[in-house]
Amino acid sequence: MKKIILDSDPGHDDAMAILLALGNPNIDLLGVTTVGGNQSLDKVTYNARSVLEMAHATDVPVHAGCDRPILRPLEVAASIHGNTGLDGVELPEPTRPLDEGHAVNWIIDTVMSNEPGTITLVPTGPLTNIAMAARMEPRIVDRVKEVVLMGGGYHVGNWSAVAEFNIKVDPEAAKIVFNEPWPVTMVGLDLTHQALCTPEVQSRIDAIGTPLAHFASQLMDFFRKSYQDNQDFINPPVHDPCTVAYLIDPSVVATRRCPVDVETADGPALGMTVADLRGPEPSADECHTQVATKLDFEKFWALIIDAIKRIG
Ligand code: BDR
Ligand code: CA
Repeated sequence: MKKIILDSDPGHDDAMAILLALGNPNIDLLGVTTVGGNQSLDKVTYNARSVLEMAHATDVPVHAGCDRPILRPLEVAASIHGNTGLDGVELPEPTRPLDEGHAVNWIIDTVMSNEPGTITLVPTGPLTNIAMAARMEPRIVDRVKEVVLMGGGYHVGNWSAVAEFNIKVDPEAAKIVFNEPWPVTMVGLDLTHQALCTPEVQSRIDAIGTPLAHFASQLMDFFRKSYQDNQDFINPPVHDPCTVAYLIDPSVVATRRCPVDVETADGPALGMTVADLRGPEPSADECHTQVATKLDFEKFWALIIDAIKRIG
């Protein structure tokens, strides 16, 4: 069992990441932490609690974290996720109260109280909470097993020509996270644009026939329309669960080790993840960062469909 903390801003694809983590027997979801991103902190925190309620997972704690980036004002993604952050579905009222304690403190306490090398951080929103945790308690950097994040792209952007949303919103936080010496896997747009929810995939989700499957399918309907209207896609790329899929089965996501840094200077390249893919691939001893390159589409969707079925 892999113990993970999902640090997220739900978000249609964040919701799918939560479902995959809950429904896979090899993942132990210790908690969900939230960060201002796709929508305001209040909205995404409510959404996280509501998705857990929908999936009968009221035992999973939710801790709210930073409501804005370290240096910059928050820029939300209402054009993609709507006014609530999870438009297109009816959200059940959460029965579990919001857990007390700031997400950054909870992340630190959880990492420090578990055995070293046992906790994986899975950020699927702006990296504000993770950067703050690394600064508040630097010893977590050695204790965390690895960081597997959705963000960036080595050949493509979506929030500018060269920058991806999660990185562009808080580039200073991203720079901190990529430059700490923990193992980092960047699951960026190069990979997640292969994770398309096609009509064929969606009909397999529909065929499960549970209220949760219907919920997931409605999420995908809204997400498809957003991507058609705003990003020139036919089918929506379901970014965030690619991180969890990689942790469940590394053969689902091929990776290439290379140095990665983040542009924080204002200008046309703000928030760009600069991956140095020149020369032979460095070893893990030489380089602590890697980028995701190729998705096994069939295996990926099989994992998601299996998770939704298992949750019931
Ligand atoms: C990322 O931005 C958000 O809108 C999604 O939830 C995902 O984490 C994709 O660029
Ligand atoms: Ca997200």
